[in-house]
Amino acid sequence: MLLDELVLDKDELTEFFVNDLPDCIGCFTCILRDEEKCPHRSITNPIITAIEQADVVIMDTPNYCMGMTGQLKTFFDHMAYRWFSHRPLKEMKHKTGIAISTTAGMGAGAATKQIEKQLFWWGIPKTYRLNATVLAASWNDVKPGIKEKITIKTKKLAIKIRKKHNHVRWGIRHKIVFKMMGGMQKAGFGNPKDEAYWKEQGWI
Ligand SMILES: Cc1cc2nc3c(=O)[nH]c(=O)nc-3n(C[C@H](O)[C@H](O)[C@H](O)COP(=O)(O)O)c2cc1C
Repeated sequence: MLLDELVLDKDELTEFFVNDLPDCIGCFTCILRDEEKCPHRSITNPIITAIEQADVVIMDTPNYCMGMTGQLKTFFDHMAYRWFSHRPLKEMKHKTGIAISTTAGMGAGAATKQIEKQLFWWGIPKTYRLNATVLAASWNDVKPGIKEKITIKTKKLAIKIRKKHNHVRWGIRHKIVFKMMGGMQKAGFGNPKDEAYWKEQGWI
């Protein structure tokens, strides 16, 4: 629904499913050596490239046990090297994030908060959250009244996003965290790969 409202003819949309992505094995290759050498890079690379080139990044998950699915978290784990504490991408500063979750009863808000947190640490200034309680286990079983409510909410959100998209800026929280992380790199508390990156960017 949101895509119908948001994606205009001139826009390009790339969509990925992460259900078959293997778990991060905690080898630290991305963080300490080179993200390109991640054993799963051939699978994650098209997704990460699309994210890096996108204006708007939409992350979508059903609520499983009061949070995002394990599958989506697995994708986020493969992005650990892009956190502020490691090698954030400066282009993230200009992107808009959207987090979407449905839930049968409770927990969509918890799931989208988790997504928002991930995108915050990538450096995306603003993440809109779209939560929907559907009282069903499948879309076909969702009552018409609830579908109608979701439609209205989605339309309103799309209008807001289009209006504000080109005006996203880091707020005080992002600025503080970025400064703190810079201080950490400067003091030599980071790893050599990250420290070299911060210097290359001219941030320290
Ligand atoms: C493993 C699993 C865990 C779930 N956990 C919750 C939960 O904690 N609270 C809840 O209200 N619904 C829970 N649900 C229901 C789903 O969140 C809900 O049906 C959702 O809308 C399904 O979205 P989908 O059709 O995109 O899979 C769970 C469903 C599954 C399969």
